[in-house]
Amino acid sequence: MTAQTVAIDGPAASGKSIVGATVAARLGYRFFDTGAMYRALTWHALRRGIDPHDESALARLAASADVDVHEGRAGASESTCVIIDGADATAHLRDTDVEANVSLVSRVPGVRAALVRIQRALADHGRVVMAGRDIGSVVLPDADLKVYLDASREVRARRRADQLRAANIEPDYDSLMRDLARRDGIDSTRAASPLTAAAGAVIINTDNMTVEQVVERIIEEAT
Ligand code: C5P
Repeated sequence: MTAQTVAIDGPAASGKSIVGATVAARLGYRFFDTGAMYRALTWHALRRGIDPHDESALARLAASADVDVHEGRAGASESTCVIIDGADATAHLRDTDVEANVSLVSRVPGVRAALVRIQRALADHGRVVMAGRDIGSVVLPDADLKVYLDASREVRARRRADQLRAANIEPDYDSLMRDLARRDGIDSTRAASPLTAAAGAVIINTDNMTVEQVVERIIEEAT
């Protein structure tokens, strides 16, 4: 029987979003990139002048925020759209200040609790692919298929650089490497739900694979 819930975890720029969205389209499922939710909350907090080190203010904001998540249109630059307290955060998910602070915001347990509750509700009816850091381990521990996408930091930085070039932005490879190292460090050493391959996850090292090859491999596992 085809897996009804597919959890895809992995480090920043490991391809979770493009792979997850493509797998979901092939299966006719919905796709949610949970990183978009942490990014949206970070944008909202910064806009309100909340210090990203102020854990209790962040937890309060997350607990009271009205977070509306839906899928982006096919071909849109963001696969997951987030409206937070009525403000559309989608165009701001990749802002430099969001990028710089999202790992600080997402390590706060109160923030995670609030967003995990919403993520579970999104997956409630199955036929869903969800991507993040803790989907197989915490959000959907009973997922029918758990995948952990890995890739070396050099390959991930190169892929990010290619994406920027495609958007006519000249990338600074060294700063991309530094940023990935910093985010990997915070994401994998935080106390609350650190990035880790869930028990039973299929681990795929994508260093020498195309997106299509990774998608094929996951579809094989799912069906
Ligand atoms: O996947 P993406 O790079 O967009 O995620 C942005 C950040 O959100 C990550 O660096 C991580 O700190 C956080 N995140 C998380 N748990 C998730 C998804 C993302 O902590 N399930």
